Amino acid sequence: MTARYPVTRPRRLRRTAALRTLVAQVSVRPSNLVLPLFVKEGIGEPQPVSSMPGVVQHTRDSLRKAAHEAVEAGVGGLILFGVPAVKDGRGSAADDPGGVVQLALRDLAADVGQDTVLMADLCLDEYTDHGHCGLLTPAGEVDNDATLERYASIAVAQAEAGAHVVAPSGMMDGQVGAIRGALDAAGHGDVAICAYSVKYASACYGPFREAAECAPQFGDRAAYQQDPAAARDALREALLDVDEGADIVMVKPAVPYLDVIAQVSAAVPVPVAAYQVSGEYSMIEAAAANGWLDRDRMIMETLTAISRAGADIILTYWAAEVARRLR
Ligand code: PBG
Repeated sequence: MTARYPVTRPRRLRRTAALRTLVAQVSVRPSNLVLPLFVKEGIGEPQPVSSMPGVVQHTRDSLRKAAHEAVEAGVGGLILFGVPAVKDGRGSAADDPGGVVQLALRDLAADVGQDTVLMADLCLDEYTDHGHCGLLTPAGEVDNDATLERYASIAVAQAEAGAHVVAPSGMMDGQVGAIRGALDAAGHGDVAICAYSVKYASACYGPFREAAECAPQFGDRAAYQQDPAAARDALREALLDVDEGADIVMVKPAVPYLDVIAQVSAAVPVPVAAYQVSGEYSMIEAAAANGWLDRDRMIMETLTAISRAGADIILTYWAAEVARRLR
């Protein structure tokens, strides 16, 4: 039957795969994906992370192999998280030149440093015996300004070990400025800062705390990470970090905060990263293992949504797999 008036038909452009590809505006590119990797001190074999099927805590050797494979697959970067053998109140292993991340950075700088971007998560929670992201006051609160001195020292240790980018994730006020100042003073003016600027106090980090062995031993992180309901806080944090010298700003988690990615991406003059975190990974892996969701389609749909929201760079535990698939 002919319509009585002309019908606008968006479906014309959906009819074949070739048409859909022609008009696509968003694409996920391997070179914009960053793979998070865990390296643990003092283990002989890689250790599976039970809440993140397919993810392991690496030995220094298995890390080198995984890094090679990821770079071979075409990922844009790697971000390292260290799990030290010994923890203490001030997280001494974090800025020790012989600490596990510094050793691993030296390995990877020699192996793949010409071919990829080496990033290091910069925080204290993996290194402190209490599991908080900073030094504690006698009352048991995280001491913002004392922590900044520790972060500054960690940044220099990571830069010296070969990090191209340091990524402070502890949510202390002034952390980007303190780190920028310390890097510049130590002759590392060319090392970039990817700030975890907009980081929510999220239940999505549960599995990561198993992988990085960094669950807080008391309390939670709500006094320093952002409140999911404080909508205006996002822009404030992002703009402050740009002012303090952040080269890249990050929003984290990703899919539950697509509105925030869009808002930040419209407002800042620097590249925006989004972190598809451990809980986002585990939810999809668990549902797929039950046969409830199509795993591969879910992965691509979520990555497409994150880049459609405005993320230029995506940190995802599927980075190497997706890069391989897209080649
Ligand atoms: C803190 C840090 C966390 C994550 C990255 N850096 C955990 C936290 O804040 O508790 C979470 C990443 C993920 O869940 O995949 N150093």
